[in-house]
Amino acid sequence: MRNLIEAHDRVKDFDWEPSYVDKRVWYPTKYKIPNKTKDPFRHLVRDYLSMEEEKDNRQYGSMEDALSRAQAASRAEPRWMEIMKAVLPILNFGEYAAMKSTGQLIETVANAELRQGYLAQMLDEVRHTHQEAYLTRYFAKHAADPEGFAQGFKLRGTNLFNRAGRAAFEAFFVGDPIEGALNLQVVAETAYTNPIFVALTEIAASNGDQVTPSVFLSIQSDESRHMANGYSTLAAVVSNPDNLSALQADFDRAFWRQHAFIDPFVGAVWDYFQSNRTTCYLEKWREWIEGDWIGSYIGRLSPFGLKVPSGYQAASERIPWLGHTAAMVAYAAWPLQFWRFDPLTPRDMDWFERKYPGWNGHYGKFWEEYRRRCDPRNGALALSMFPSLPPLCRVCQMPCVFPRIDISTCRIKEYAGKRHAFCSASCEMFFDQQPQRYLGYTNYFELFDGYDLADFIVENGLLRADGKTLIAQPWLDQERMWTIDDIRAMRYEIRDPLRNQ
Ligand code: BEZ
Ligand code: FE
Ligand code: FE
Repeated sequence: MRNLIEAHDRVKDFDWEPSYVDKRVWYPTKYKIPNKTKDPFRHLVRDYLSMEEEKDNRQYGSMEDALSRAQAASRAEPRWMEIMKAVLPILNFGEYAAMKSTGQLIETVANAELRQGYLAQMLDEVRHTHQEAYLTRYFAKHAADPEGFAQGFKLRGTNLFNRAGRAAFEAFFVGDPIEGALNLQVVAETAYTNPIFVALTEIAASNGDQVTPSVFLSIQSDESRHMANGYSTLAAVVSNPDNLSALQADFDRAFWRQHAFIDPFVGAVWDYFQSNRTTCYLEKWREWIEGDWIGSYIGRLSPFGLKVPSGYQAASERIPWLGHTAAMVAYAAWPLQFWRFDPLTPRDMDWFERKYPGWNGHYGKFWEEYRRRCDPRNGALALSMFPSLPPLCRVCQMPCVFPRIDISTCRIKEYAGKRHAFCSASCEMFFDQQPQRYLGYTNYFELFDGYDLADFIVENGLLRADGKTLIAQPWLDQERMWTIDDIRAMRYEIRDPLRNQ
C-alpha cells in the first residue's frame, strides 16, 4: 500500500450495508458529516496493535515485578490510597462510556478516515477499562487496607458520587453520537485528561504511590490521539454551515455537564487527599483549562464560528470553592461511602488558607467540629451538623450546595407534579430545553428516602469482613473504628429534602 489515502480508499471498498438490519434506527445524528476528510490517526490498525501491546507489556510487567517486590501499594500514604477506592470505579465507568461512545461513532459516521480513528480509540478505551479494573484488583490484593477496593464497582448504582459520575459520563453515549463526541473528546479528553491522568500522578507519586502513575501515564499516552479525533470530528462538522446552530448548543451543554461533576470531584480529590502537599487544583485549572483549553484550543475554533461555552464564565468564578464544598459534603456523609477519610490537620488548614485566601472563614469551623465527631465515643455524627441533607440536582445529580453553602445557586421548581432541584442556572436551563432527558434518572435520595442509615449500610455491603465494623471511617484511627452498633444508636434517617410532607 503506497500511502494512507489509498489504504483508506481500499478500506472503504470493503464496506457494505447489511441487509438484515435497518441501520437508520441505530444511532441517528442530526449532523451532516462529509464522507471524506483528513485522517486524524495516521496509523493503520496493524501498527497500532503492536504499539499498544508493547505498552501493555511494560505496564503489567512492572506492576507484577518491580512494584510488587518493592511493596509499592502498601507503602503509599493511606490518605491518598483511600481516595483511590472512589476514583477508580468512577473513572472506569468513564472508560466504558468512552468505549460505547466511539463504538456508536463508528456506526454513525460514514467516513473511513474518521472511522479509523474511532476504531483505534474504541480499542484504547477497552484497554483503559481493563487497566483500571486491573489496578483496582491489584490494590485489593496489595493495599495496606484493601477493604473498599473490592466493593467499589458494585456500588456504582448506589453511591451518591458514583451516581453523579455516571450521569456525567453517560453523556458520552446517551444523546446524538456527535454530542457524545463533544462530551468525550472535545471536553473530557481535551480539557480534563491532562489534569486527571498526568498532573494527578504527581500527587500520587509524591504520596508514595508508584503504581497509579505507571497505569495512568500509559493511559494518557493514548489520549492525544483521542483529542485529535475530537478535533477532526469538529472540523468535519463545521465544514457544513448547516450544522453550526445545533453545534453551539450541544457544545455548551457538553462543557457544563462535564464541568459540573469533574471539577468538584477532582478538586476535592486533589486538594484533600494529599499528605505531602504539592500543587492545588485551582492552580492546575487555571493552567490547563483556562490557559490551554479555552485560551489556545477553543480560541482556534472561533474562525469556524464556535464560541467559548456559555457556562464557562460561571464555571471560572465557581472554581475556587467547588472542591472545598464537595469535600465538606463528602466528609460529612462519610458513613454513606466505602473508603476512609483523614481529617485535615492544622498544618493542612494553613496550606488551604495560603492557596485559597478566605478559606478559613468559610470552612475552618466545619473542620474543627468534624475532628471532634470522628471518635465514636463522642456519639455525634458529622452529618448531624447540617439541618438537612442537600437536594440533588435533577440534571447533574450533584448536591445543590455550590459554589458554597452560603451563596448556593440552588433552585427548586415544580414540573409534572413533582419538585425538582437544580444546582445552577445552567443545569436548570438544560432541563428546560429537554426535561424528558432527565426525568427518568432517579437520584440517590429518591432511591433511599426513609432508610435508617444503619440499614442502608448493611444492605449495601458496607461492612468489613468481621460483619460489624464499617468499611468507611471518618478518620484513619484503627483503634477506634465505627461499628454498625454505633451507627444504629444514632437513629439517623436518610431523608430526601424534597419529600413532600
Ligand atoms: C477517557 O477514557 O478518555 C476518559 C475517561 C474518563 C474521564 C475522561 C476521559
Ligand atoms: Fe480512556
Ligand atoms: Fe480516551
